[in-house]
Amino acid sequence: MKISSIATNAFLLLAWGSLQEIMAFAPAKQGAVGTNSQLSMVQSGPLPCRPIGIGHAAPKTIVTNKDLESVVETDDEWIRSRTGISQRRLLTSGESLRELGVEASKQALEMAGISAEDIDVVICATSSPEDMFGDATAIAAEIGCSTHTMAFDLTAACSGFLFGSVTAGQFLSSPNTKLKNALVIGADALSRWVDWEDRNACILFGDGAGAMVITNQKDEDNEDDTLLPGLLGYAAHSNGKGYVDLNCSYKGKDVEVSTPDPITLESAGYNYLAMNGQKVYKFATREVPRVVSEALEEADLTADDIDWLLLHQANIRIMETVAKRLKIPEEKIITNLADYGNTSAGSIPIALSEAVRSGKVKKGDIIACAGFGAGLSWGSAIMRWG
Ligand code: UT7
Repeated sequence: MKISSIATNAFLLLAWGSLQEIMAFAPAKQGAVGTNSQLSMVQSGPLPCRPIGIGHAAPKTIVTNKDLESVVETDDEWIRSRTGISQRRLLTSGESLRELGVEASKQALEMAGISAEDIDVVICATSSPEDMFGDATAIAAEIGCSTHTMAFDLTAACSGFLFGSVTAGQFLSSPNTKLKNALVIGADALSRWVDWEDRNACILFGDGAGAMVITNQKDEDNEDDTLLPGLLGYAAHSNGKGYVDLNCSYKGKDVEVSTPDPITLESAGYNYLAMNGQKVYKFATREVPRVVSEALEEADLTADDIDWLLLHQANIRIMETVAKRLKIPEEKIITNLADYGNTSAGSIPIALSEAVRSGKVKKGDIIACAGFGAGLSWGSAIMRWG
């Protein structure tokens, strides 16, 4: 996880637009580090790219709230009323998260009407990969991408799919780019990382994957010769001081290595996922309305202009509070939390895939998305579907 985070950060720096726009401090003069304390924000207006295909996959094993009553001291009524979750789908022993990513990706490509060989960039947003060195390359190979495809993982917990989409958007929008299509996967299996004796956490999470194709090619249905942007605006933030409120931290075990002068190193492992639910709840209901407003402003839109509000599926009460603060009618909330629980990086693309496939979200609809979670990190992107 650590190594993939380093790689991710390097790619993010490369991808997210000009350095002038994203560096916290603008250099005062060449060769000097500026001391201007005015922070610039990671946000942008319309990018010339659009989402054109989406898919999702989830494990077949369904565990209901009632089932969990025999696992921890809880009850269906508590879980439903405090979270909005009724059931979740869990990967059982021997099953693979990567296979869910492959299935979701194939569906997304099919909807987009392009072949895997046309994909230039694959980003797999996950914090629970099958392989600590990353799953994106294996998924890319399995769906049939060529060796020309750049593929890497992005670790940003529940903000991962949102940040991955924005990163892909920047790759496709950089001036004179030769890249045409990107595939962004959001996949997590946090059932592998929760303590099944911790009722605060184990009832919340489910496993699953979603994937979305983004292109900078114009829509053939569009008579106008220009590309109608589909990533209309975004904004993103982090606050590492909130790290303690939600993490899955490294925990090494001493191992003696018999060098001539023996040394004690560590054999790697991780603690269970740890969360202060109330703190994360307050953070989400405070920051998500703000970041959605910032992204809307970048898109030159208001809350009245959006057709759908699609937040990371963590808690129905968070979604309702955010909608209320933004004065967005509850009918515009897209949610499938009741059926899947919190699937971390998978939650936004799984919900979007279901909404597009059921015909709820139609071509041209404007969707305000927001991801938030461990880090702490949070962000919003305003998308026009299709
Ligand atoms: O994707 C990452 C982002 N994560 C989130 O967004 C999570 C945000 N937080 C939440 O969604 C909510 O804080 C939770 C759903 C995690 C918890 O809901 P809450 O309303 O904040 O409950 P609480 O932690 O204040 O606990 C209330 C009571 C406590 O009992 P006492 O002290 O009042 O006697 C808990 O021990 O509920 C108890 N409790 C439970 N009872 C039955 C905690 N978990 C459970 C449980 N079943 N599973």
